[in-house]
Amino acid sequence: MLIVNIKQLVGIREETTLLKGKAMAELPYLDDAFLRIIDDKIVEYGEMKDLSEKGWDNEEQIDVAGQYVLPAWCDSHSHLVYAGSRETEFVDKIKGMSYETIAKNGGGILNSARLLNNTSEEELFQLAWQRLEEVKKLGTGAIEIKSGYGLTVEGELKMLRVIRKLQKESDVLIKSTFLGAHTYPSVFKDNHQAYIQQIIENMLPVIAEEQLADYIDVFCEQGFFSVQETEQILEAGIRFGLKPKLHANQLHVSGGVQIGVKYKAISVDHLESIGEAEIDCLKESNTIATLLPSAAFFLRMNYPPARQMLDANLPLAIATDYNPGSSPSGNMPLLVALSCIQLKMTPEEAINASTINGAFAMELQDIIGSISRGKKANLILTKPMPSLAYLPYSFGSTLIDKVMIQGQWV
Ligand code: NIG
Ligand code: FE
Repeated sequence: MLIVNIKQLVGIREETTLLKGKAMAELPYLDDAFLRIIDDKIVEYGEMKDLSEKGWDNEEQIDVAGQYVLPAWCDSHSHLVYAGSRETEFVDKIKGMSYETIAKNGGGILNSARLLNNTSEEELFQLAWQRLEEVKKLGTGAIEIKSGYGLTVEGELKMLRVIRKLQKESDVLIKSTFLGAHTYPSVFKDNHQAYIQQIIENMLPVIAEEQLADYIDVFCEQGFFSVQETEQILEAGIRFGLKPKLHANQLHVSGGVQIGVKYKAISVDHLESIGEAEIDCLKESNTIATLLPSAAFFLRMNYPPARQMLDANLPLAIATDYNPGSSPSGNMPLLVALSCIQLKMTPEEAINASTINGAFAMELQDIIGSISRGKKANLILTKPMPSLAYLPYSFGSTLIDKVMIQGQWV
């Protein structure tokens, strides 16, 4: 298939490198371009003026005059499998209660865990499937999904099995993360070690045996998992073959970044509460800094210092954190807009953070994240627009015309 008369083909890269600092400002493109797709792959692209000599006249063509074509979004942090919603807490927060107070009163993650443990695997799958279909239409072609609302052996395994079923049945590429250490269940409130032992002795062996997860995550945070507890869990996860990806420095300067770097985490995520020490520590590592600005937006918290991190030459990714408590939205176009508006990232930086660097944060960089020969045809076709910056500028508008995942129109 040929997509022709593309106003601008954006995110072309034949070399796959993690983009850091200044390099994030460059988003290579071709004006007035064509793109050739065979089966599920991108096989060629070029300028329209060179198309006629190729001899592909008999191929199916779709004319997209005035439209932009981008790589589909790579959403590297989500909690898309959950039961029920938490709009009551949303209203409590409007009336002045803090996220931490809600959590202390048995709301928050524990509220979601109660709901999840009362929901069947099939029902959970259906709910997650609907969310996945919704984000596909917004251009998401790959997503990482975490457990962490089970907090019991049964509940955590149920979530991971739902993720596995989504992997099997959806054409969206999915990575799975075990987040048994999301919070302490009430019964273990005063006996943290007993819950950690459950994670290590009863959850991890089954997860490894059934290959239910790629990564291990811990919510390293005051009132949740301490630095020592996080280390203990990460070490166990690594023994079972899982690589770390960490919830770090969301509410406080928690030490999470340093622990993530120490254990060679693929990414440390959130980073609303970081300073120079954390930035310096990340500079010495290959760990990606994943920012989740919709969580800061929804919780009315400070945004992470993206510009300072870019000045320090760090690689940034942007993800939705789609979850019922702190970001009940999986809308990547909105994330790109928020990153421009609140993190002061340029449209190019925000798009790189949401595509190629997001792919790196899921170790999928060799098959998605850019317009490259041989990569999956995971594409976003915008509506006609005057410029690329128009996309984040018109935040909240639906500017996505069509989405292609693995060569198929959504
Ligand atoms: O990434 N911070 C921890 N976990 C989620 C929120 C979980 C919840 O409130 O349900 C997050 O923001
Ligand atoms: Fe999260």
